[in-house]
Amino acid sequence: MKKNHSATLTINNKSYLLPIYKASEGSDVIDITKLYAESNHFTYDPGFTSTASCQSNITFIDGEKGILRYRGYDIEELAKKSDFIEVTNLLIYGDLPNKRQLNKYYKLISKHTMVHEQLLKFFNGFRRDAHPMAMMVGVMGALSAFYQDSLDINDPHQRMTASRRIIAKASTIGAMAYKYSIGQPFVQPDNNLSYSENFLNMCFSVPAEKYKISKVMSDAMDTILILHADHEQNASTSTVRLAGSSGANPFACVAAGVASLWGPAHGGANQAALEMLETIGNKKNVPNFIKRAKDKNDPFRLMGFGHRVYKNYDPRAKILKQTCKKVLKHIGINKDPVLDVAMELEKIALKDKYFIDKKLYPNVDFYSGIILRAMGFPPEMFTVIFSIARSSGWTAHWHEMIEDPVQKIGRPRQLYSGNKKSVYGKKRSTKNTR
Ligand code: ACO
Repeated sequence: MKKNHSATLTINNKSYLLPIYKASEGSDVIDITKLYAESNHFTYDPGFTSTASCQSNITFIDGEKGILRYRGYDIEELAKKSDFIEVTNLLIYGDLPNKRQLNKYYKLISKHTMVHEQLLKFFNGFRRDAHPMAMMVGVMGALSAFYQDSLDINDPHQRMTASRRIIAKASTIGAMAYKYSIGQPFVQPDNNLSYSENFLNMCFSVPAEKYKISKVMSDAMDTILILHADHEQNASTSTVRLAGSSGANPFACVAAGVASLWGPAHGGANQAALEMLETIGNKKNVPNFIKRAKDKNDPFRLMGFGHRVYKNYDPRAKILKQTCKKVLKHIGINKDPVLDVAMELEKIALKDKYFIDKKLYPNVDFYSGIILRAMGFPPEMFTVIFSIARSSGWTAHWHEMIEDPVQKIGRPRQLYSGNKKSVYGKKRSTKNTR
């Protein structure tokens, strides 16, 4: 790390010199690794709003300017010129592959699209009405039991095999979760198709009727996957890194990432956003829901609005808004109550002082839900699709973490505010409130 200058922190009249490291772009960091040893103080930062948990070369975000880059390439350019598999290669290997490298990589990934026959039986243990994300968490973790020849995290070859397996099988497992939940037979992957075409085919093809893959739909799916592939140290990626820091195997770590992504404040927001649009139901109800979102005493939030990092606009949302228009035009939807509500909500929120002052803009989940619904996916599948895309980012970060020489087990500390030493059986001032 390149040392830039230093910061001085004074606690009880004693000063501590803290090195500052220079970022290649974005904010520099103050190194506090020795602070506890030297001063007996921890730093306090719930939600990590001011804390860099690692050094990373993968993704750069400038939330103020609305910039997102994978390995230095603007997301707009990648969405236009690349495909999802090339982007996964870029994330994992660090640079765009040449034609020969890319062809070899396509083959390597497609070699892993099938899943072990025994794994199919694993699905039968789930209830048919289980949320597909529950299946995704369980089956992703179960890969550790099926692919034991790629669990040694100290072997670079096994690490690479595991990451290819994760990327290739994520879409097969996601499609299987969908098919299982609707009671249809699983559709095997077809390696003559692109990653996105194959995923759509595995979801919508049935033995009685072949699914006709439209280019508009597969391009839209590819764009969604590219835009969701990575997003630096978000909750699920940090979860993967934290799980991996203990030496856990990659399938278990990625399963932890899927679990973290499921929450409505993170990847689950796309399902929540669409359900919210359906609840609003009609354009004329929008002002009432805007009023509720602004009311401090009402827990209601506009799902699909706001972002921890993007404070001007979400560049992914800008791209998806265009994709959304193309998809709706392709299937001839220009009058749809949910779409009407979405457009009205966007229009009013973008003009409303509350949302402007708090820098709350539609995020990527606002548009992805509308597109996925138009493709024929139920809302429960939205986060599954997000997790298929993000599996590539998670594996890239997992590799980077394992290869980082300063990597150690993640172990945050705390500000303890509980009881001091107590005598068992003696009445205390605090009560058990659970
Ligand atoms: N609707 C109404 N008010 C909101 C919203 C919203 N969607 N988001 C934030 N606010 C308000 C908060 O009430 C808060 O107001 P206050 O300062 O008066 O207390 C202020 O804006 C800041 O909100 P925080 O929750 O502190 O902001 P944070 O950066 O922690 O949260 C988050 C970001 C979680 C994304 C939040 O905006 C949210 O809950 N949005 C809805 C869920 C969503 O769409 N998540 C998807 C994120 S994108 C992704 O994961 C791919």
